[in-house]
Amino acid sequence: MGWFSSDIENVDDLFRHSLQDIYYAEQQIEKSLPDMIEKASDAELKKGFRMHLKQTKQQIKRLDQAFKKLKSKPKGTKCPAIDGIIDEANEIAGEVADKMVLNAALIAAAQAIEHYEITRYCTLVAWAKLLGLNDVAKLLAANLREEKATDKKLNGIAKRKINRKALARQQKPMRSSRNEQMEADAALLAAAGIPPV
Ligand SMILES: [Fe+2]
Ligand SMILES: [Fe+2]
Repeated sequence: MGWFSSDIENVDDLFRHSLQDIYYAEQQIEKSLPDMIEKASDAELKKGFRMHLKQTKQQIKRLDQAFKKLKSKPKGTKCPAIDGIIDEANEIAGEVADKMVLNAALIAAAQAIEHYEITRYCTLVAWAKLLGLNDVAKLLAANLREEKATDKKLNGIAKRKINRKALARQQKPMRSSRNEQMEADAALLAAAGIPPV
């Protein structure tokens, strides 16, 4: 179904299309999380990803319930946005050799996914309320709360340690190259017969 084609004629159609969109997105996220768990080398990050995989499975169940309440079969519609975010995450992860830098890249990718989900669920909750679908709105709001909490948690881990550990990797060689430069300067001074200060 294409956006703004005649398949979508009103807000209800738009809402149902977006529900199928997030249903597809959650399924792709469920498939990609085991790979992220495997790639993460920080125990806390691994645990966080594992917990979110469990939540994602539960979120899919809530979406199943939402479809049931709408008296329609659970169905996903291809979402190029989430496919793009996941593809890019895999691409970047494949290019990072250092474990600490990889952890930082994984958190950034996971947060991009969370932010996508947050924007979708915010809209879906608003549209469900607008359409008077309060039971469906409650299910979607539960998913939204979990996505927001996960984003906050990932942000905390990134700021508290992962990003700093990743940065430390580049500071070490910088420090050693400065030392090397100082040694080279001292050697030049010695060669010129100038005593060190
Ligand atoms: Fe989710
Ligand atoms: Fe999520």
